[in-house]
This record gives sequence, C-alpha cells and structure tokens, in this order.
Amino acid sequence: MTAAIEVTGLRKSFGGRTVLDGIGFDVARGEIFAVLGPNGAGKTTTVGILTTLVKPDAGTVRVCGIDVARDPAAVTRRISLTGQSAAVDDVLSGRENLIMMGRLSGLATRRARAAADELLERFDLVGAARSRVSTYSGGMRRRLDLALSLVVTPEVLFLDEPTTGLDTRSRRELWDAIRSLAGGGTTVLMTTQYLEEADLLADRIAVISDGRIAALGTAAELKARVGGATVEIHGPDGAVIERAPTDGTVAGVRRALDTVHAEGVVDIHRPTLDDVFLSLTTRALDHEARPTALESA
Ligand SMILES: Nc1ncnc2c1ncn2[C@@H]1O[C@H](COP(=O)(O)OP(=O)(O)OP(=O)(O)O)[C@@H](O)[C@H]1O
Ligand SMILES: [Mg+2]
Repeated sequence: MTAAIEVTGLRKSFGGRTVLDGIGFDVARGEIFAVLGPNGAGKTTTVGILTTLVKPDAGTVRVCGIDVARDPAAVTRRISLTGQSAAVDDVLSGRENLIMMGRLSGLATRRARAAADELLERFDLVGAARSRVSTYSGGMRRRLDLALSLVVTPEVLFLDEPTTGLDTRSRRELWDAIRSLAGGGTTVLMTTQYLEEADLLADRIAVISDGRIAALGTAAELKARVGGATVEIHGPDGAVIERAPTDGTVAGVRRALDTVHAEGVVDIHRPTLDDVFLSLTTRALDHEARPTALESA
C-alpha cells in the first residue's frame, strides 16, 4: 500500500532566505507523525506545502498517492487542516459554525446538522453548542477547530500546533481526540514545539532544524541516538560532577557505581527527547513552549 504522505527534496526560500533546504519523509496510513522544531523552523511552511497552500521551490509531495502540484483539488478533497490561526466565526455559535462547514463541504442541511451534533458530543461541546464562539475558552476553541476539520472525515488530517497555549487538561483531552482519530484509520501529521506531546502521541517524529531533517524515528529510537542511561552523581549545588554509563539494571548500576569516585547524590538519568533536541539542533526550543517540570511529571 502506498504511504499516505510522500515528501522528497522539499525546498523553499522566502526573499533569499532558505527556510526548507531539502526535506523528505514518508508517513504511513493511520500513523501519527510529528514534525518537531523551534519557532521559525519551517513547520507551518511544510504543512502549507503539503496542504496545497504554499508552492515549494523544488521537491515533490504526494498525498494519498496524488501529486500535490499536479492535482491540488483532488488532494484538498481528501485532507483537512487545523491551522495555527483558527478559522472559526466568533459571531456564530459552535453548532452554527459546524453546520456552516458541513454545508460548505457539500452536505445537505439535515446531514450537516446531524454531523454537527455528533461532533459537539464527541468534543464535549454540547453545553456550549448554542453559545457564541466569542465566549469560548481557548481549550473549547481548539476542540471546535478540530471538530470543524472532521465534519467530513478526512483521509489525512494536518494539525499545526494543535495544543499551543492550552492548559494541561485541555491538552490531554485533545491528545485523546487525536489518538482516537488515528485509531479509526485517519493519518495525522502534526507539528509541535512540545517534546512531551511528540513523545506521548506520535508513532514517529521528524526533528527539523536549519531547514533539514536532523533526525527521524520513534521517540525510543531518537533517545537511543543520544546514548543509554547514565548514573549521575550530583554535588551539593545539584550540578552533575560525575557520570557513568549503565544499562539501568541492579547489577549494571552497581558496576557503574564502582567506577565513580565522587561523593554526592546518585541519580539515574535516562535520555529524554530534550537531550535529543539539544544535541541535534542549533537553537533550543522556545523556553515558554517547554512543559514545566510539574506538567511533565
Ligand atoms: N509568506 C512568507 N513570507 C516571508 N517569510 C516567510 C513567509 N512564511 C514564512 N516565512 C518565514 O519562514 C520561516 C519559517 O516560518 P514558519 O512559519 O514555517 O515556521 P514555524 O516552524 O511554523 O514557526 P512557529 O513555531 O513560530 O509557528 C520564518 O523565518 C518565517 O518568518
Ligand atoms: Mg508555525
């Protein structure tokens, strides 16, 4: 079976500044694929090209086997996009927005209403269905965004930073919704700045940095790239003063401890996507975009 998304040699410059410098990857059907990168890395540009909105300078993109440059209309019929800037009408209610989207997508009024009510239920918006969107919280808005992109079930769903700015609870609710979609066979390509989000949600992750794919694989594969677990000895100020590699087993930790000489507090550090990110990219993630220690606990 062909991949849901096939990208090769994608290049894009804006005013002489190279943003994408040869990006390529495949996404399998039903997969959740995360594109991870700091601000300005080219995530939205990539999504724009894959969804026919932006023309690349070079490279090819096939979505559901269809060349995006040759037949953009056939591609847009099979996909949905939830963008970083939401396309909801504030003056209308959530239900009215959904019905309007259904009508625009070619559903008869009765079918559009039925689809709207089913989605309001699924995204926990029944209570606010008839309130103006201008009264919605950020989390409710994002859930409505996602619902809007599912009025007609897409083969491939593109989500550009779907949970940026959401609190932990709303984020988790959205993750559940995305998981259940993928479970139903929809392919999901999402961008994110949250390492935790990519780690928990994505089957595979592409890290983009300086316009290229710096790493691609499962979260476990990416973590393995930066090495295995280490026994760390922390000094009184908390800084690491000595470390030794270990496999994490009792015998392994004992052996590792035999090789260290410093006195201090022992900690076992397993590689995180943070370590991967810092080792691969020239720029760290936006500090604000990182989940706090509390959130990731
Ligand atoms: N239409 C455009 N014209 C000129 N420059 C652009 C245009 N679109 C994007 N850029 C530039 O390309 C670079 C990548 O932008 P892009 O929006 O793809 O990044 P991003 O990874 O989505 O960032 P963020 O995390 O902030 O959303 C940025 O430097 C941006 O200013
Ligand atoms: Mg963006």
